[in-house]
Amino acid sequence: MPVLTFRVNDQDITAHSGQTVLSAAREAGIPIPTLCHLDGLSDVGACRLCLVEVFGTPKLLASCVTPVAEGMQVYTDTEKLRDYRRMIVELLLAERNHVCSVCVANGHCELQDLAAATGLNVASLYHYFPSKQDLLVAVLAERGFLDELAITTPTPGDRTPRIELADLLNEILQSMLEVEDFIRLMLGEVMRNDETALSVGQELIAGTQDSLEQWIAEDQPELARDTGADAVARMLRATLIGLFFEHVAGVLGGTSPSAALRRRADEVAAILHRND
Ligand code: FES
Repeated sequence: MPVLTFRVNDQDITAHSGQTVLSAAREAGIPIPTLCHLDGLSDVGACRLCLVEVFGTPKLLASCVTPVAEGMQVYTDTEKLRDYRRMIVELLLAERNHVCSVCVANGHCELQDLAAATGLNVASLYHYFPSKQDLLVAVLAERGFLDELAITTPTPGDRTPRIELADLLNEILQSMLEVEDFIRLMLGEVMRNDETALSVGQELIAGTQDSLEQWIAEDQPELARDTGADAVARMLRATLIGLFFEHVAGVLGGTSPSAALRRRADEVAAILHRND
């Protein structure tokens, strides 16, 4: 079979007659992104992610269906190609909502990898819902997060206030862990200073604050004696958010996050009730 020589970027490589640019480039260790190309199946050139520039040709060519020609000069990573690829991935993502953090394929998704490689933030693409706010509220409702917060008031019993408080904090933290993916998404959006996410986050925080204030007023009025229920609730809320951050960052230590969280809740309860 005749051997052809051609150039990819600044590298001379060889290919056999009939071999595609994609196949020869990959054999030489030169990456070209693809989506519809599957080894062993015929190529159809549908997704256009494998586009390359060929010197002397005005059009971009799909490398998976373009045969190598002797002396050809191919470019695989120009600014023009990067722009096209980003646009193609964005159009693919625009077909429906892609909220990776609540998707079962998160971390094992070719489209997600391509989005990252082309510089797209998947979590910022919301097309199906009228607004990002609507999407976040829908996820919130679907996960029942506000309902979870509403049931955090401990049942009255003969436990000491300290144990009741530890139970309450632990119960809220467990609720947060159950919707961890969603809270991670919220944190990511907040870090990006996303205004819409901030308003949904405020709703969550207000729900937690109300729940804590109500519990203090009804069950632990002595906690509010010096500083007021709202201040104590804010302090507890900050503790909860800090604990969640520590859990996400993996610095809680121990093998069980819930045991570590429980220990911290006990410590907070002990400080608040040090005169018991
Ligand atoms: S891999 Fe899809 S067009 Fe080439």
